[in-house]
Amino acid sequence: MSMKWTRNTAALAALLSALCLTANANAASADTEATRIEPRNEQFAKAHAEQYKTWKATEESEEIDDALAGDPNMVILWAGYGFAKDYNKARGHFYAVTDVRQTLRTGGPKDEKSGPMPMACWSCKSPDVARVIDDRGEDGYFEGKWARLGAEINNAIGCSDCHNTGSKEFAEGKPALTLTRPYVERAMEAIDMKFEDQSRFDQQAQVCGQCHVEYYFTGPTKAVKFPWDKGTGVDEMEVYYDEIGFKDWTHKVSKAPMLKAQHPGYETWREGIHGKNNVTCIDCHMPKVQNEDGKVFTDHKVGNPFDRFEDTCAQCHTQDKQTMQDMVEARKASVQEMKLRAEKQIVAAHFEAKAAWDAGATEEEMKPILMDIRHAQWRWDYAIASHGVHMHAPEVALRILGTALDKATDARTKVVRLLATKGITDEIQIPDISTKAKAQQALGMDMEMMEAEKEDFLNTVVPKWDKQAKNREASY
Ligand code: HEC
Ligand code: HEC
Ligand code: HEC
Ligand code: HEC
Repeated sequence: MSMKWTRNTAALAALLSALCLTANANAASADTEATRIEPRNEQFAKAHAEQYKTWKATEESEEIDDALAGDPNMVILWAGYGFAKDYNKARGHFYAVTDVRQTLRTGGPKDEKSGPMPMACWSCKSPDVARVIDDRGEDGYFEGKWARLGAEINNAIGCSDCHNTGSKEFAEGKPALTLTRPYVERAMEAIDMKFEDQSRFDQQAQVCGQCHVEYYFTGPTKAVKFPWDKGTGVDEMEVYYDEIGFKDWTHKVSKAPMLKAQHPGYETWREGIHGKNNVTCIDCHMPKVQNEDGKVFTDHKVGNPFDRFEDTCAQCHTQDKQTMQDMVEARKASVQEMKLRAEKQIVAAHFEAKAAWDAGATEEEMKPILMDIRHAQWRWDYAIASHGVHMHAPEVALRILGTALDKATDARTKVVRLLATKGITDEIQIPDISTKAKAQQALGMDMEMMEAEKEDFLNTVVPKWDKQAKNREASY
């Protein structure tokens, strides 16, 4: 790869000297701890105009892309779990709260005690989460259902998710980056990455790693934990989950004890070529740019780095935009191909396992088959759930998808043998799952009812939340 490995040296040096940055810019916050964490992004519009304006521009990435419509296999893979109801690809940070309210996964709660999801589902959506944890402690935030504090979590991902906005440094225009969730601090310490001890570049990636990671819900309050005690690789997390006997849900078709990978973007980035060279999320997604007066600042419009190639890739690489985009597209295509191959095998394994149950197979007979299915799908999900993996670590994704395919064929070999002992030798038929609607129908899902509940929730509960939030903030 031809390189001009400078990391925009001139601009950065200017910024560094202007800001007198230290890695521990957030250390001096103790004297402001009594004040409330400010969740309202608008409050910073004046003091930090460039950052605010570019942050707000994440609003421009508004397109909703229905991932299940694009690949109905996923409805079957997530059968019995929320993601089979609907799953859209990520869009701008600006929409985080809107989207978690609108998704069918959070259901249509009528009061603070109903609805399918726990409070933990707000955790990566809003700086109000940092505020509430600061006010009430972690238990005071996590306990109960998702709708319990719906009126408290209303500002989209913003300044107080990544910065110590109450610090003197921040007021002076320095980054004062910080981790804003205690469970993230613990996870980083578990992998020997205590935030305060890291370099500036590591800290930049760590603020994204508060949310773009694998996590699960655990304990009496269903609190967020990252499964990193043994490491952040796919194999290590698999062992971790197996040892504690954790499952996210029981698969509706095969009855396998399943794991849902969230979005291990931070973990896969670390394993990729850029992560290994300490090229961080910020180098590509939040480059240093200049305003009209030549002042250097961090562009807060987190989006697709190809939209501003000159400020991102071209800072280090000499190839032109088209060449690099073609390269990334080609990698995307090979990841996509392996993804579909793995899906085909895992979907078949789920239906064959069902046929074995129907033919009277015992738990004992099914156990090794279901474990193979669990591991196959965990690997498939880990590899693809972090969008952008084809860019961040394509070789990692391809290796993991290879192992997913392998585990799925193991499952199928075993289940076909088992079926033969029950006298079933015909190929197991898979229902028509060629569209999202047909796949949901094959699982007997009542989409009309779920949509009606959601609409009712959006029309009755959400306006109340918004009103309460407005009243509360008026008193700040
Ligand atoms: C997703 C994380 C994230 C969010 C949200 C975020 N920032 Fe930043 N911000 C960063 C990073 C990363 C840097 C660059 C740090 C560095 O250079 O080491 C930065 C830098 C800054 C700086 C230092 C000057 C500069 O431009 O480099 C200011 C001031 C700032 N941000 C203000 C804001 C404001 C105001 C908001 C809300 C409107 C905001 N930030 C939202 C991550 C974030
Ligand atoms: C507080 C949690 C949180 C933090 C911190 C965070 N993100 Fe996100 N990010 C999200 C969520 C949630 C979405 C999806 C929003 C939606 O679709 O409604 C998202 C979406 C994105 C997208 C897709 C944007 C688009 O327009 O398609 C990118 C890229 C991204 N994040 C990168 C980053 C980077 C880089 C950082 C660190 C500077 C970061 N994020 C920090 C939670 C977070
Ligand atoms: C070397 C550059 C680079 C680095 C480093 C990098 N990214 Fe990306 N990222 C990209 C590019 C380019 C894309 C879009 C790929 C495409 O167009 O298909 C992308 C895509 C994404 C997406 C998917 C956006 C979507 O709408 O599907 C997310 C989320 C994301 N990155 C987050 C991160 C996080 C978090 C980190 C750090 C842990 C990171 N990225 C590090 C270049 C980078
Ligand atoms: C801050 C510097 C930096 C930025 C920004 C950057 N890269 Fe890189 N890139 C590197 C380094 C360092 C390597 C490793 C080079 C090596 O080891 O030969 C690399 C390697 C690569 C490779 C080869 C990886 C492989 O698997 O062989 C590709 C492709 C690549 N970068 C694409 C991109 C794209 C696309 C962008 C913009 C979205 C980008 N890079 C942004 C520094 C950067």
